[in-house]
Amino acid sequence: MKLACIGAGNMAGAVIKSALAANLLRGDEIGIVNERNPEHGRLAAQKLGVTYMKAEDIRFADAVMIGVKPQDFAAAAEMYRSFFREGQLVLSMMAGISFKKLKKELGDMHFVRSMPNMGVGVLCGVTGYAIGENVTAAEERFMHALCASGGTAIRLKSEDEIAKVIGAAGSSPAYFCFLAEALAAAAAADGMEPDSAAAFAREAFIGTAELLKNDSSLTPTELRRRISSKKGTTEAAIDRMAETGFMESVAAGYLRAVEKSDAMTKMFDEQ
Ligand SMILES: NC(=O)c1ccc[n+]([C@@H]2O[C@H](COP(=O)([O-])OP(=O)(O)OC[C@H]3O[C@@H](n4cnc5c(N)ncnc54)[C@H](OP(=O)(O)O)[C@@H]3O)[C@@H](O)[C@H]2O)c1
Repeated sequence: MKLACIGAGNMAGAVIKSALAANLLRGDEIGIVNERNPEHGRLAAQKLGVTYMKAEDIRFADAVMIGVKPQDFAAAAEMYRSFFREGQLVLSMMAGISFKKLKKELGDMHFVRSMPNMGVGVLCGVTGYAIGENVTAAEERFMHALCASGGTAIRLKSEDEIAKVIGAAGSSPAYFCFLAEALAAAAAADGMEPDSAAAFAREAFIGTAELLKNDSSLTPTELRRRISSKKGTTEAAIDRMAETGFMESVAAGYLRAVEKSDAMTKMFDEQ
């Protein structure tokens, strides 16, 4: 067993799928542990094509991935800490759980923190990761490969940048959806049939993402410029959005996510 997974819900499940799709690990090299709800663990393992493993076997894993909700971490640590091997490689994708808190709950392990986003589920995600103390070069290579199996992986300078990754990427698929919602609502309010308005916004959004994906040298700024002919409708729309505070609104949302993440970290650190 190479990778033991504590928590295999939406996000960790997507990482597991990406590791399988990239042939980084085989199904029999990934085990899901769930002593809280063994039936859920077995079902998740079956759905993902991996194995269900007992907590006692955690110590035999090369690495442990923790993907429970931050508020469930203390209980999970209590449940499993005795099964960890000292110095084991542990990847945490939990928002708000610092290296300090991980060490406090699990002891001296080789910790890596990652912040993936939902795009990992379609192998188009982006993951920022920070390396903790004592992680070896070989362990880091494995962690990079695991994070990169779901799309792009970027090593961060320190864990302080995790909150920024949450603001820019962990949460941002929801911002893009919010823009599509706002656009559909504006067209519907202007008299367009709501289902058509939603379809126009959604398909335009998907097409834009595909254009950017198909040409990695094309930046969003350049694509926007190409679409915005001088004195045309798009330029007029963008100018109006800018005048009414679009950039400020997005920046405020980003900063709010960062602040919220920092506040969560502080709260869990103090518990
Ligand atoms: N969703 C995102 O976009 C995203 C992005 C980046 C990072 N994250 C991080 O990913 C983590 C998981 O988020 P999620 O959205 O994937 O949540 P989720 O779908 O609710 O998954 C959490 C999983 O943890 C399991 N779990 C809880 N306590 C457990 C225990 N004691 N033993 C074994 N399994 C346990 C739950 O299993 P049962 O309920 O079946 O027992 C569930 O499958 C969070 O820490 C979050 O900060 C999420």
